[in-house]
Formats: sequence, structure tokens, C-alpha cells
Amino acid sequence: MTKTIKRRDALKLALGGGVTTALQACGSRLSHEAHIITETAPRFEAALPIPPVLEPAHSDELGDYYEIEARESTATIVPGKHTTIWGYNGIFPGPTIKATRGRATHVRFTNRLQTPVVAHLHGGHTPPDSDGWPSDVIFPVGHQASVTSMAMAHMGHSGEIAEAAALKYEHNYTYPNDRRAATLWYHDHAMGATGHNVYMGLAGFYLVEDEDERSLPLPSGRYDIPLMLCARQFNDDGSFRYNPHGHAGAEGDVILVNGVAWPALQVERRRYRFRILNASNATTFTLALSSALPFLQIATDGGLMARPAEVPRISMAMAERVEVLIDFSAYAKGDSVFLRNTEKHGPLGDIMRFDITGPAVSDYGELPDHLSVIEALTPEAAVRTRTFTFGPRSELKFHYPPIYWAINGKRFDPDHAQANPRLGDVEIWRFVYEKSPWKQTHPPHIHLVNFQILDRNGQAPYPHERGWKDTLRLDSGGDVRVIMRFDGYRGRYLMHCHNLEHEDYDMMMRFDVV
Ligand code: C2O
Ligand code: CU
Repeated sequence: MTKTIKRRDALKLALGGGVTTALQACGSRLSHEAHIITETAPRFEAALPIPPVLEPAHSDELGDYYEIEARESTATIVPGKHTTIWGYNGIFPGPTIKATRGRATHVRFTNRLQTPVVAHLHGGHTPPDSDGWPSDVIFPVGHQASVTSMAMAHMGHSGEIAEAAALKYEHNYTYPNDRRAATLWYHDHAMGATGHNVYMGLAGFYLVEDEDERSLPLPSGRYDIPLMLCARQFNDDGSFRYNPHGHAGAEGDVILVNGVAWPALQVERRRYRFRILNASNATTFTLALSSALPFLQIATDGGLMARPAEVPRISMAMAERVEVLIDFSAYAKGDSVFLRNTEKHGPLGDIMRFDITGPAVSDYGELPDHLSVIEALTPEAAVRTRTFTFGPRSELKFHYPPIYWAINGKRFDPDHAQANPRLGDVEIWRFVYEKSPWKQTHPPHIHLVNFQILDRNGQAPYPHERGWKDTLRLDSGGDVRVIMRFDGYRGRYLMHCHNLEHEDYDMMMRFDVV
């Protein structure tokens, strides 16, 4: 084992120590108990909550300044039960940040939990010092002494944790917002603890808006609704039951929408825009409407598609986003339509219900056939192809779940870049997932860039992924090529699997834009 790996594991241990303390503090239990949700919770009674939009603390010519605190609080997720959550500003999902293209957002994150955190803007075109490097942690306010000594004890001596030992209790992140309108999200990214931190609630929406999008007749205001989907399970007392199944991934027995189990939304008989995010740790979904009407998809991870696409089903790996229009004027008053997950039967098959009310409204304009111009990147533009194989560490192939996951056979090494693309270069990255009996999806996610999918197993990409992407679904036997330009910033970034437990153990890779 090299020294760097040791150092990195030590930090993970130190962070893990914080997690354990906090777990005890919030009363979570990892014992096997009845799944109260699936047995007793009423469905489609709770109203869908919409996360509040955060107001800037102040604004000036350099942008808008926000304050966000990660802190513990209580939420009603299952009717009649209280769940301890870790939330940005104490809510789950966190407050929505709305940004405008060309105007910077500055966010000061403060940590009032008992465990180190890091914030990352997923899908952001962000300078490296604001990208949320996993060991660049924000320590808990008021817990300096214990966390520091814990970290020191694991490190052996203080010199090796220069980064951690800077002991920040808050961090100012700057997001330039220089890319097109898109549905992004922010979430925790702490080394070795991301899975648990996000499961506890550290995730929120970040919406970038721009003039191009505003010029289209798209539903807006209260007809433009973000839906954060994630699988969770609970103990009898209502606390989250975080079970990472070794390092296979923490799943759940119910899908929450905006932090509530099986909600219902009253909708008018008109067109709505939904921005859907799969914020699960380790659960994929395939979305469909119970009425069998298709979705009209308008956007992928990186914003508007070139043209709208009618898609009956949309598969979503972890961290992927899609935006769809649903026209409820096609239904009668009093009808209900369910949003379903066709990958599962039973409780995980139902997501939410739309209850149709009121007279039909169609005072909005016709949607044009062309939504946006997307520069098609072609293979000829690429200066090289790099291949990344996702799987368990080879020497542990027959141990399940694997002790560590790997990219090209390697565990995450924060001190060494596995790729050094040059600023401005176009490259093809090929993601390969050798056939495995375990069938777990590995969704590769690349920080900094948006890419286009060139092909999947030699075929065209799925209709719902023809646009700018930052995360993609990679299933057993998959071989997918993506193309992108590394522009904007030099520095260190991450590529990793967005199964959060795979990411924590250790399916993550550093790349440097040079
Ligand atoms: Cu959504 Cu590196 O993360
Ligand atoms: Cu994975």
C-alpha cells in the first residue's frame, strides 16, 4: 500500500468516525426491522411539497450571495412519523437556488452537523477550488477539537493532513453560471461518506435560467415543478435506515418525491413542465405514466434538447435529470394519473399521483419543433480516445459485495490523475462494463464537462439521452462512447460512478485539465 493511499484511507476513517457519532446521535439503527412504510403508510394523501427558492443574502455587480447551513432537523416524510434529516438550511430537499446564465452565484456553506461535509454543484462548469474536492472538507462548527484529534490519531502525525488540517468551518463556493440553462443539483461529496450524507438529506436543486429558454412558450412559475426522486427505507421510529449492503449501495423500499413518500399533486388541465432528478444513492428508475400517454421530453442533464421527443418510458440512472412536459388537458376533470417506475412491482412501482382539476386551459403557445441549437461533436474532432472499465477490483472479483470498486482496476487515488486532457481538446471517453452476474448499474459522471453520447454498444443512444449530458446509465455488458470538449478551467476534477457507495469505495478517478 502506498503512502498516499494510506493518507487517504486515514481521512476516510476520520470522516467515518464522524458519521458513526452522528448516526448514534440521531438514533438511526442498522438492525433489521419491519419496513413500516410499505406495510402501513397511506399512499397519495400527502400533498407534494415544492422546495422553496432561496433568496440571496445580498447581491452586487459580481453576482448573488447565498448562505447555506448544513444542519440536523426533523421532517415528516412518512405520515405520522418524524424523521431526523440532515438538510441544507435544515430541509430536505434543500432550498432551490435559481441562477441566471452569465451572473455568478456565491454560496457560503457552513457546517452545523457533527460530521465533515463538502458541497458539489453537480453539472456545474465550475473552477476547481469551488468544485468540492472530497477531502477539501468543511468541519463542523464547534467540534474542532474532537474531529481534529480523531483525524490526527488516524493520520499518525499532523503533517500529512495539511489539506484537512486547514480546518475550515465554512467554505465560499463560486459558480460562474456561464453555461446554458439546465437543471443542476447540489449535494454532499465528502470522502467516504457521500452515500450516508446524501441519504440523510444533503441534496437540493440548482436551476440555471437563460434568455434562450425564456423565449420559448414553456410552462413557468407554478407550472414549472422540480421533482427530486429518491429511494429510502425507514426504521419503526421513523428514522432513516441506511443500509449500504456492504458497498453495493443503499436502496430503499419507497420512492420519495421532494422528500415525501407517495405524494399527490393537484394539477390544472393544462401543460406542466417537470424537472425530474434521480437523487437515489443506488436505485435506477424507468418512468412511465399510468395512462400510457408518452412524455414530451424537452431537456437532458445539460439543458434543452435540439427538439422535443415523445418518449413513453424514460430510464434514469442515479444523478441523471430529464425535463418533460405533461399536458393534463388530455384528461377529464376528476381523473388521476400515476407516475410509475416500471422497473419494480409493488411499493417501488408507484411514485406519485396527479389529480386533475378545473377547466381545460390552452392559452399557451405551440411548442416549436426546434428548441435549441446543439453543436454536434463528431469523432473526427477528437484528439484521442480513453477507455475506462468499471468493475470490482479484479483480485476481489468473487467477493460480493466487492470490498472496493475500481476504474481500470484502480481505486481512487486523490494524488494522481489518471487522465490529463488539454484545455480546449475534444476527447472521446469510452465506458466499458464487463458482463457481471451482479447487474448493478454504474452511472459514470464527469465533473466540469457536458458530453454527448456517440453510441451505446454500437447503436445510437436512447431517444431520451440525445442532448448534453453529464451522467449516463451503464449496465452490465455496456460499452458507451461519449465525446466532449474540456474547456473553461484547468485543474483537478473527478470522474466517478454515481452509485454513491461505489463512489465512496472507490470507483472514482482524478483527471487534470492541463
Ligand atoms: Cu453528483 Cu461527483 O457528483
Ligand atoms: Cu458503480
